[in-house]
Amino acid sequence: MKPSEMVIKRIEFLRSEINRHNILYYVNDAPEISDAEYDALMVELRSLEFQYPELVTPDSPTQRVGAKPRAEFGTITHPVPMLSLGNVFNDEEMTAWYNRVARMLDGEPFELMCEHKMDGLAIALTYEDGVLKIGATRGDGTVGENVTDNIRTIRNVPLRLEGDFPKKFEVRGEVYMSIDSFEKLNASRAEKQQSLFANPRNAAAGSLRQLDSRITAERALDVMIYHLGWYEGGEMPDTHSAILDKLSELGFTTNKYNRKVKDLNGVLEYYRECMQYRNSLPYPIDGVVVKVDSIDQQKRLGAVAHDPRWAIAYKFPAIQKRTTLEDIGISVGRTGTMNPYAILTPVEVGGVTVARASLHNEEDIQRKDIRIGDTVFIQRAGDVIPDVVGPTPDAVTREGRSAPYSLTKALFDEEKGFAACPVCGEEIFKEEDDAMYYCTNAACPAQLQEKIEYFVSREAMDIKGLGEQVVASLIEEGLIKDFSDIYTLKEKFQNLMMMQRMGEKSARKLIDAIEASKEKPADRVITALGIRHVGAKMAEILAERIGGAEQLSHASYDDLVAIDTVGPRTAENIIHFFSEKENLEIISKLKEAGLKISAEPEMHDTTGLPLDGLEFVITGKLLRFSRPQAEALIKENGGIPRSDVTKNTKYLVVGEDPGSKLQKAEKYGVAIISENDLLSMIGNPGF
Ligand code: IVH
Repeated sequence: MKPSEMVIKRIEFLRSEINRHNILYYVNDAPEISDAEYDALMVELRSLEFQYPELVTPDSPTQRVGAKPRAEFGTITHPVPMLSLGNVFNDEEMTAWYNRVARMLDGEPFELMCEHKMDGLAIALTYEDGVLKIGATRGDGTVGENVTDNIRTIRNVPLRLEGDFPKKFEVRGEVYMSIDSFEKLNASRAEKQQSLFANPRNAAAGSLRQLDSRITAERALDVMIYHLGWYEGGEMPDTHSAILDKLSELGFTTNKYNRKVKDLNGVLEYYRECMQYRNSLPYPIDGVVVKVDSIDQQKRLGAVAHDPRWAIAYKFPAIQKRTTLEDIGISVGRTGTMNPYAILTPVEVGGVTVARASLHNEEDIQRKDIRIGDTVFIQRAGDVIPDVVGPTPDAVTREGRSAPYSLTKALFDEEKGFAACPVCGEEIFKEEDDAMYYCTNAACPAQLQEKIEYFVSREAMDIKGLGEQVVASLIEEGLIKDFSDIYTLKEKFQNLMMMQRMGEKSARKLIDAIEASKEKPADRVITALGIRHVGAKMAEILAERIGGAEQLSHASYDDLVAIDTVGPRTAENIIHFFSEKENLEIISKLKEAGLKISAEPEMHDTTGLPLDGLEFVITGKLLRFSRPQAEALIKENGGIPRSDVTKNTKYLVVGEDPGSKLQKAEKYGVAIISENDLLSMIGNPGF
């Protein structure tokens, strides 16, 4: 299936988000999202790339040299870990680093080597008897990928050395692509309508990590050597600068801009000079690296965690550029989010042409007062897809030329009279304290994969054999257009069997699992619909109080909020979900298929019963009843058994060895009663 515009945009969005979070995490040390949320973004990107392999680019975060080496390469354990570098961002921080080194060296004089911080990827080259034996990527610092064959194709990597050198040693350096080669590569890719690399670093990494060395050989890569990893069986000089001279003599490329300086002033001067000429260099740099020159002093300074104390990276500030915001586009995420993005007059930012940038949500756009037609500042830090920082001060003179941005206006459909999802045309929807607008149409193609995966998940319909990849193929083959189509697969058995990774046996098993799922109780069906904020637990409560999906579709807002645990947001979501024609159609198809759509509420009129509407929680071991028995007893008498103590809990029934619920109940001021108290409440003291 040809990827739609929407898929392409989603992939772009995911890549930019993941890159942004990488920077927040690794560079700024200030993550905005949890590891789990980060993982979810990666999973989504991987699955889209799996569905559309033609959209995989070597610069995708999924292809990055990260913690996990590509299995195909084989791994190399670095005999000496490949450390990373600490960062400083201004003169004060640089000064603080310098003073710390001086202090730790007890006033002993020391010299420093200043170098370009090459923006490529680190590699380690091992030589034995002067012959290149291993070329490895950094990987996670301990284990990297064996990319020897690819390294051998790089022109300035010596394969055999002449002269005097240790029997075995390892040098480290950066593989990079010159800006010139990068532009040529992208131009030729553009001609062939292939996806473009975002920057020279990604191009270098993508080129080095090719499984086919012939491809690497075609890409103009270079290596700059900047470090001696380790050596045995021989001698090497005792300063970093002399080692680099020695390596250069042996035929390694070292940087002619390296400069030995005597003090902090020398460092700051070098940094300022680099800032001046960086854009005229043939390769990208993102800062300078400062290293204590004496190896003996380096050893004494040692390392903390992954960073040596004897070296530091002084990073350049993010580059900002001005350009025009031509329009604001909106892509639809897999969870139905409306994701606005900036369409810019293309502009070059630090060696990369930028035409798109992320705009997180409507609120953010309004807060920064970014308007279409404005001249805006965009910013790129490292390899991040740029961010729109905000309008330039002169944009404020726009005077009526453009209106403040409104996402609902942008998506407003005159004929329909509402703001419509750009993919399916259904009305979009936003909750009060949420920054994002959503499309809640269960049949919206943008969200199909996710909705189906949720529908078949364990807490919902629990259909085994419908994993991510099978679902992707079913959508691709056009066998599933919404989740009710799962129940028509029986009739499409032939097509199912013919699918990749299927075969008759698994197809039969799958059909059996689908048939069996029809027996799932009404609350599971409600869960499976994927109404926002209605998870398994809420679905259970709704089924108990209102009935099946059909009954729920007739419930009013007041009916819903009358249930203690249902807040106004959830109620709104439910009402909204059932107001969409497409959703009602799906539900009627599910009913036809024989699912438990219609069910009476389990809770009948409890007025007059002794525990009418009172919520109970049980903790510890009861003497007379098992938990289920006690809960049934509470229900029979009009009460509501719950598993967690909340502010709505009326009574906590305490048995032997109570758990933490007791403290929680005390905190909330919940009445604490014994098993006997419960029995007397239902008028059965002599039980
Ligand atoms: S020295 C123990 N020198 O920066 C020190 N690294 O942020 C080892 N890098 O992984 C690194 N230019 O990829 C060193 N002149 C330079 C460098 C440099 C770029 C990279 C290298 C490293 C990363 C750490």
